Amino acid sequence: MVTNPYCSVQLAEDHKSVVLLDQRRLPNLKEYRNFYSASEVAEAIREMVVRGAPAIGVAAGFGIAVEAHRLLNLRDFEGYRKELEMACDLLERSRPTAVNLSWVVQRIRKLLSQEYNSQESLERAIMKEASLISSEDVAVNYSIAKIGNQLIPHRANILHLCNTGALATVDWGTALGVIRMGHIAGKEIHVWVCETRPRLQGAKLTTWELQQQNIPMTLIVDSAAGYLMQMKKVDLCLVGADRVASNGDTANKIGTYTMACLARLHHIPFYIVTPLSSIDANIISGDEIQIEERLSDEILRPSGESLVASETTSVYNPAFDITPACFISGFVTEVGILQPPFTLQVLARLKKEYAS
Ligand code: MRU
Repeated sequence: MVTNPYCSVQLAEDHKSVVLLDQRRLPNLKEYRNFYSASEVAEAIREMVVRGAPAIGVAAGFGIAVEAHRLLNLRDFEGYRKELEMACDLLERSRPTAVNLSWVVQRIRKLLSQEYNSQESLERAIMKEASLISSEDVAVNYSIAKIGNQLIPHRANILHLCNTGALATVDWGTALGVIRMGHIAGKEIHVWVCETRPRLQGAKLTTWELQQQNIPMTLIVDSAAGYLMQMKKVDLCLVGADRVASNGDTANKIGTYTMACLARLHHIPFYIVTPLSSIDANIISGDEIQIEERLSDEILRPSGESLVASETTSVYNPAFDITPACFISGFVTEVGILQPPFTLQVLARLKKEYAS
């Protein structure tokens, strides 16, 4: 059950569309929009109507489900399956860095390779799986929040990057979920919110979420983070993850690596808060993670209209970076806090314990 008064991603009751809260319009406008096909949902993910690793995964699952519903009148079963395979490919490719897209698509692809006697029965199975992925996300994030709360001292100043709240998931969020749980538990928390250039997910989304929850916070420019650490104004850094390699190297919003290095220099604990679904056991290290490069306009026209540098300026806009495992104090997951050394064996044990 969703506990916050806004939900970033859900399936419409008639199963004909995916309903997304348009995160590009926040905090000024709370607008829900309907997306009626896999290609519309893929476009919404690319355009960041919905964003945040777990949320785009859930949106992709629902995207395949609405496609399965939309194509029910296709007479030929094999043609139906092929169309759904194409929908999976499209959604999986909509953004490259977060592993949650392929994790969700793989779960649904498994159904496509099973025997069903009608389009309707396959469609029902896909709907069920996509809805299960969504409700699992809520339960997993709630566990993460409870487990992560142990890390928060009383009267903590917490540094946070990007947006990892309910908006980036179905509910609770990852790093912001931990912060929310700490606040509910009565700890006096104050959050330093990095604005998160260039798209300002911190300024636009995290401040909005924290305000809804009455959690004290202060907005800072990203480059103030080091100064605050030097002034001993940060007790803990909590951030999310888009893809974690087997050795613990982590892709997350651009600026995470800088924050992790500074935290190490100042002996400040730096935790990645992530569901196990963001761990990619197929890759050994961060070198294998594809970093999304976004358009120059995100930097050149931060508010959409006026240029801050000449149009011909050469721009490089990587959306994520890789933090090597050696800079990470631990991973807060739904099965516990994973401490270094981060090995595939430890991960496998945790996953097994969780499943039993
Ligand atoms: O480009 P975005 O806004 O999708 O990036 C999101 C992040 O980097 C988050 O920190 C990450 O997905 C974890 S959110 C639970």
